Amino acid sequence: MFSRSPWASAALRLALAQGERLNALLRLRIIDFAIAVPYHFSMELFRDKAILITGASSGIGKETALRLASYGARLGLASRNRDALEEVRAAIVKIGGQAVVLPTDVTVADQVRDAVDGTVQAFGKLDILISSAGLSMRAYFECSQLDAMERVMRVNFFGTLYATHFALPHIIKTKGSMVGLSSMTGQRGIPSYSIYGASKFAVQGFYDALRLEVARHGVHVGVLAPAFVDTPLRDNVLGPDGKPWDVQPPPPFRIWPVAKCVDYLVHLIVKRKRKALLPRFTGPLLVIDEMTGRWIGDRIVKRRFPPEENMK
Ligand SMILES: NC(=O)c1ccc[n+]([C@@H]2O[C@H](COP(=O)([O-])OP(=O)(O)OC[C@H]3O[C@@H](n4cnc5c(N)ncnc54)[C@H](OP(=O)(O)O)[C@@H]3O)[C@@H](O)[C@H]2O)c1
Repeated sequence: MFSRSPWASAALRLALAQGERLNALLRLRIIDFAIAVPYHFSMELFRDKAILITGASSGIGKETALRLASYGARLGLASRNRDALEEVRAAIVKIGGQAVVLPTDVTVADQVRDAVDGTVQAFGKLDILISSAGLSMRAYFECSQLDAMERVMRVNFFGTLYATHFALPHIIKTKGSMVGLSSMTGQRGIPSYSIYGASKFAVQGFYDALRLEVARHGVHVGVLAPAFVDTPLRDNVLGPDGKPWDVQPPPPFRIWPVAKCVDYLVHLIVKRKRKALLPRFTGPLLVIDEMTGRWIGDRIVKRRFPPEENMK
């Protein structure tokens, strides 16, 4: 198809290449536009919203606070570490946002009530609660100490329960959203996550029933259930005695970037979904797992989470 003259041939190739590039650019622009317009409107939903995040000093809570502030939301930042919260607040102010620091231990009901009240006082309302405060434990039940297991339940489950209890009357007024943090360990039994998983099953069961109870008020209730996410949580996983492992047991599956987790969380709120699983394909896998009587799934998790030397 090309001319025999090398010059004409080269010119023709160049023109075709430019045409291809132009086409590709046009296609990209169209695709960008198609994605950007609804995305833009979705993000506008967060403008001037008053949002309380527990566990806002680190990991998923912190990244979510920064993201939502960049969409124009106003943030109540709750957790125990005041200095870390101040740093998050400074980063929010730097991008032109607003935030209040609310030092809170989520296992103490009065402090959680103060965090809710503090957010309402600062911004005049509460639209969204995200209960991200949590801690992980990896140990076989048979060797785990009671006080360590109780601590995990108190932070992960009661922390979410207290925040939800005090926030709900305000969120009914705004017909807002409440988001709990579950986990892949809250979807099926995984060896060495009996207690952490139980706390996440508890959050999920609580929110699943609450979702139905408060739907009549126009309140959205949803749960985000990620697999392994790249946050400091994994450096502080408790062992059987309630102290963090000296050498953390390695996660046997892919570790997801925290930004991806925040994408899912934002999508959960925008779409007012009941549950978001990260990664998404675990949904179908869990269905297959149930259909096969958990036969395949049990074999996989038993192999991937063996009883390590000091775990039992
Ligand atoms: N990372 C993962 O792989 C993963 C996977 C599935 C689910 N999740 C869940 O996602 C949530 C966030 O975890 P992350 O990965 O972001 O962990 P992270 O980086 O360790 O953050 C945990 C947050 O919880 C706060 N916190 C812990 N105990 C608290 C207490 N008693 N009172 C108030 N705040 C407390 C910590 O703040 P202070 O120290 O300042 O109190 C910190 O801000 C947790 O519920 C976790 O179980 C995480």
